Amino acid sequence: MNETLPMDEKYRVGLARYRQEYKESLENPESFWKEKAKIIDWFSPFDKVLDDSKKPFYRWFINGKTNMSYNCLDRYANNEKRNKVAYIWVPEKGEEKVVTYYGLYRRVNAFAKALLNLGIKKGDGVTIYLPMILEAPIAMLACARIGAVFNVVFSGFGEEALAQRIDDSNSKTVITADGGFRKGKIIELKKIVDAAIDLSKGVDNVIVVKNANNKINMESGRDYYYDQILEDGYVKPEELDSSDPLFILYTSGTTGKPKGIVHGNGGYPVWVANTLKWGFNPKDEDRWWCAADIGWITGHSYIVFAPLLLGMTSIMYEGAIDYPKPDRMWDIIERYGVNILYTSPTAIRLLMKYGEKYPLSHDLSSLKTLGTVGEPINPAAWHWYYDVIGKSRCPIIDTYWQTETGGFTIAPSAHLGLPDLKPGSATFPMPGIDPVIYGDDGKEVKDGEKGYIVLRKPWPGLMLTVNRDEKRYMDVYFSKFPEQYLMGDYAIKDKDGYYWLLGRSDEVLKVSGHRIGTIEVEDELVAMKEVAEAAVFGKPDTVKGDTIIAFVTLKDGYEKSVEVINSIKKRVRADLGPIMVPEEIHIVDAVPKTRSGKIMRRVIKAVYLNQLPGDISTLENEASVEEIKKAVEIIKKEEGD
Ligand code: WT7
Repeated sequence: MNETLPMDEKYRVGLARYRQEYKESLENPESFWKEKAKIIDWFSPFDKVLDDSKKPFYRWFINGKTNMSYNCLDRYANNEKRNKVAYIWVPEKGEEKVVTYYGLYRRVNAFAKALLNLGIKKGDGVTIYLPMILEAPIAMLACARIGAVFNVVFSGFGEEALAQRIDDSNSKTVITADGGFRKGKIIELKKIVDAAIDLSKGVDNVIVVKNANNKINMESGRDYYYDQILEDGYVKPEELDSSDPLFILYTSGTTGKPKGIVHGNGGYPVWVANTLKWGFNPKDEDRWWCAADIGWITGHSYIVFAPLLLGMTSIMYEGAIDYPKPDRMWDIIERYGVNILYTSPTAIRLLMKYGEKYPLSHDLSSLKTLGTVGEPINPAAWHWYYDVIGKSRCPIIDTYWQTETGGFTIAPSAHLGLPDLKPGSATFPMPGIDPVIYGDDGKEVKDGEKGYIVLRKPWPGLMLTVNRDEKRYMDVYFSKFPEQYLMGDYAIKDKDGYYWLLGRSDEVLKVSGHRIGTIEVEDELVAMKEVAEAAVFGKPDTVKGDTIIAFVTLKDGYEKSVEVINSIKKRVRADLGPIMVPEEIHIVDAVPKTRSGKIMRRVIKAVYLNQLPGDISTLENEASVEEIKKAVEIIKKEEGD
């Protein structure tokens, strides 16, 4: 675990500058952030850096007025940067499209005007359910321009998940496409939107981008084609307050209801722009490829906002990284001369499985820096990435963060000074981040001991709140260790001060880097007519991190059968989306619970994985464990047949 890889001399500017800035950020946050906030333009300056009078609801850059769309576009579109490429959009199939800063500015203005014409105004909720097409960032920026609060829903979510987000975000407008492409197949997005609207409280406008040209229903008076409502011209960006909400993004937690994480107009842009600069040290001529989906925070912060705030050129890729062939990612890097690649451990492990011959058949010499995010990276994947893809000359920026933190919290800094890297460690905190590792008793653990990672001080990228649920904001993040931010992960700090992230400390899974709440899936299962009880847990998977396993009991009158299992899976897919479908559903006679009635997922998991359960004395009846054991035996036998 403590293998250290000295960085190439050319990357070494020494750690002195990093240490100096880091120290400054914690000791003099007022002057530090006053300076760093200049990374964006302000229509009127803030009169105070931080207001912590209502902690833990911290507010940054008090009374500052700004606009994200202005900072991403107008600042570049009207000067010598106007012809700089903002995005090279690469479709799954066919020709790329290139859009300049000026082009993007025009398109965002035209769509902002269309939104205003529909009566959408500052503070209104707008749900964006789009595939990875240019209209996704355009829609986000157009909303930001007029101060509408957008909520992007990943296009892999199903109708119920979408309906829930439309309602919770108070959206009366949905922006979608007829369809999206996934490995040559069309995903019928408009159809899913229609079904979701039926389940929701109702919406007034649906804006549809023609993308896949599949047949769809258009409801007159409610549905509009995107290209028919655009109106060329200029829309003055709203002068928004730092603490006005910019967007809501939902993430799974430990209850059935996803949390709407709210980010604002002031602190968030300052944080994402500075962290991208610190982490990756992008240069004006670089081509940056963040291979995430815009439906997740990585896409928001590091495909859309931070790169545009810094005036960078990004690759935006529509499709799957191994389609049509396993060399797709390497082909794109070579074809477009990508300099910085930012992807996930899951992607690396998937591509690693296909073998070295795919990357070796491409010229990857344009690469300078590599990045990873989403889950801990295992040393084997780290080495493959470093050796085979980066040819042992590109540092790996392992960025540890989450939806709620807005941007990187722990990551090596190519800009301020790279430490020698240790494969699997995210290394050191970003400026402003003050981590500590606590035991259950709230005392700091010794170096090398495992505990909860907690951030002691606020930073500008911290969410404003959980949408319509201040109590949940307090309970989930600030109650275990009062007034300090609980990240929900286990971690170790080693004797050299490096941080090692060890996975979630709550009942949330990481499936291909995406957070899936076990309870969310359980709630869906028990809402079905055949299911009585359900226990969901994660099974370690060498590519995906976790896969979803469900144990269920059936209601009287239902018999265990392949048909029942398939029909349950089909409904999870339609309601929640393909990413939430359990890989295996096992029907058993009982699920083990504690005396207080809490399902013991850990025990079931341990038995299932053939690891002896730690403490089964708190189980209500051990017979259910036996039954699970029996069930597992049967499955094993079935598999062996
Ligand atoms: C959770 C946040 C951050 C954007 C993508 C996921 C895990 C994330 C790392 C990393 C170890 C990581 C944590 C975190 N995680 N990055 N580099 N090393 N773990 O965002 O869905 O909000 O999930 O992802 O468990 O809490 P998210």
